[in-house]
Amino acid sequence: MLKIKGNYFILETNHTSMLIKGDGRAEYLYYGERVPDFSGAEWLSPEVYWDGAVHPLSLFLQAGRGEAREPSVSVRFADGSYATDFRFVRARIVPRPVLEGLPSAYGEAKSLKLEFLDEPSRLKLCLYYTAFADSDAITVCATLTNGGKKPVSVLSFASLHLEVWGNDFSFTTFDGAWASERRRHTRPLECGKCENASYIGSSSAFHNPFVLLGRKGDVYGVNLIYSGNHREFAESDATRRTRLVTGINPYQFDWELAPGETFFAPEAVMVYGKTDEEVSERMHEFVSRHIVRGKWKDRERPVLVNNWEGTYFNFTREKILNIARKAAEAGAELFVLDDGWFGKRDSDTCSLGDWTDYAEKTGGLESLADEVRAMGLKFGIWIEPEMISEDSELYRKHPEYAMKIARRDPQRMRHQLMLNLVDPQVQGYVFRAVSRVITMCKAAYVKWDYNRYMTDCFDRNTRGGEYFHRYMLGLYSVISRLVERFPNVLFESCAGGGSRFDLGMLCFMPQTWTSDNTDARERTVIQSGTAYAYPQSTMGAHVSASPNEQTGNSNSLQTRFNVACGGVLGYESDLTKADDAELDEIRAQIAFYKKYRSVLQFGVYHRLGDALNGEWSGFITVARDGSKAVSVIAVPEKRTGEFNLRVKFAGLDENALYSVKYRRADGSFVPVCQAHGAMLNRGSFALQNLFSETDVRSCSNPLYTRLFVFEKVSARKKRS
Ligand code: DGJ
Repeated sequence: MLKIKGNYFILETNHTSMLIKGDGRAEYLYYGERVPDFSGAEWLSPEVYWDGAVHPLSLFLQAGRGEAREPSVSVRFADGSYATDFRFVRARIVPRPVLEGLPSAYGEAKSLKLEFLDEPSRLKLCLYYTAFADSDAITVCATLTNGGKKPVSVLSFASLHLEVWGNDFSFTTFDGAWASERRRHTRPLECGKCENASYIGSSSAFHNPFVLLGRKGDVYGVNLIYSGNHREFAESDATRRTRLVTGINPYQFDWELAPGETFFAPEAVMVYGKTDEEVSERMHEFVSRHIVRGKWKDRERPVLVNNWEGTYFNFTREKILNIARKAAEAGAELFVLDDGWFGKRDSDTCSLGDWTDYAEKTGGLESLADEVRAMGLKFGIWIEPEMISEDSELYRKHPEYAMKIARRDPQRMRHQLMLNLVDPQVQGYVFRAVSRVITMCKAAYVKWDYNRYMTDCFDRNTRGGEYFHRYMLGLYSVISRLVERFPNVLFESCAGGGSRFDLGMLCFMPQTWTSDNTDARERTVIQSGTAYAYPQSTMGAHVSASPNEQTGNSNSLQTRFNVACGGVLGYESDLTKADDAELDEIRAQIAFYKKYRSVLQFGVYHRLGDALNGEWSGFITVARDGSKAVSVIAVPEKRTGEFNLRVKFAGLDENALYSVKYRRADGSFVPVCQAHGAMLNRGSFALQNLFSETDVRSCSNPLYTRLFVFEKVSARKKRS
């Protein structure tokens, strides 16, 4: 709900309210839990100091107005000057803007548009606030329009500048590296600035764009709908204000805005909640309803088997068909042929760009796919379209397609270079190549990989300061055309695991490969960190071989499944090596997953315990009608001699009576009790026999897990 009442502008969602005032300048007066009205709003304004100065909660900061902090919008004019004086002009309720070339949220028709003008230069700044009532999210789209006669250089332009009263906040970020993504870090914000940013061209595994600003009782979560270099920072100071800023990273950013042109910053989203959990729940709703789109948005995602960790590059047609046969026997629904099927690709040193069948190896991709389909499976394929190997036909024919700088030896990563997607010709090549592959093997699923950082950025027709962002625009243009052309294909985005797990990619591809680290112990941390911002249906999670390829830890098949069922389930070991007993166990797991898939993928998710620092951790995901729930609890070590490890659940229907049971490896269940949701949400329950019942034979560094199922028996009778 959006309202304009004189100089006051109100945004309301189901549980939150925001009040902005526009009168010469514009300022936030309130953002928090929903209030019935804004009586007393005058009293929310900032103090006026003895010298007449005021320090409001700003919607942006600009250069040249005596501001002591870094501006969130900064430009250089043709005369070399930097100062701007954007003044508030007016507010209107308008149709939501279309962000040229950028992914954005959908599902609301109107925005509150606030216009600001720098009169001397005729540079116009507009902020469009949209309230997504059902998910308690507010987004901001920011634009800069050059109404003057000379070009203007945009040096930085944040998408969102949120400011709140108080300097007692902490700043939480989700950081890591390859195979160790999105580990939560929280630090108190004392005086000064704390940054979270990417400098490598993609949103990165190093610092995810999702951040939290929190204190007891108030938490603000912010994310950016973008997949390139981003920067968030939080800053507190002696004026008792704290600000949270997100947008394109100003690093190597210098965008020329010609007269009449508009620059669109990526859309940013903010969510308020009283706790981290509330923010996560609202973010999940926002992502599920207003980011993920297309045929697969609410559809149950197939259980897949992928050959990567089972074979790496070393496979034959026979091997692939044998794995697929086992996959079909176990009840999987989709087989994915990973890296190694094209060009002359027997290792990672060659062939990227040659998206033609390596027929000597596959025995003919088209017929291979047909044979897989004849087994009752869908066929999916891996591709890494943004890359080029120097040892490839494509490079020999079109060396100019590669991202490199003349007379400089380019930086190679995993032996590969990137394609210069800024160039429309290269975009056309990638679009055609991917289309051909999908059509050739009638792929039902595509895993879109991206295995390096961006370096050696150069395009002869592009200003250096525009390269990073123009790359993203090129990428989004290709992907949006592909998604439109193949609306039935399920796309999963991947970047050496989870290095591009962001809202930009999720606008096109409904799921993301969470991490190349498939170790159950590590995954509890990675998945729990990821789930702060992203729902289960977006997280690819696979059962792989034990000992684990990345960590050497070994865990029972049951434990590996218990952890993987917290996302979109898949298997990626060589299933031909599984004996009959293991195959039976996998069959039972898949049958269980299918039965509870709607709640495992689309239920309301609650984080339990603390995966990073706790004695135990886990999740519970509850059906939207409260009828059932699945919870997995993971205990990182057996503490011999210690008793009474207790767990707490959440989110169950308070008035419903549930039967609770836990699952054994063979698929049978052990009844635990019948209890009301109210009790289950509040009590501390024993993990009876967890250590003695977990199969740790020949395991090293095992994780102890238990999967509980809750089923509603009846609703509590209301007292008359
Ligand atoms: C990185 C991905 O994350 C893996 O799953 C696999 O597809 C490899 N690339 C293939 O090169």
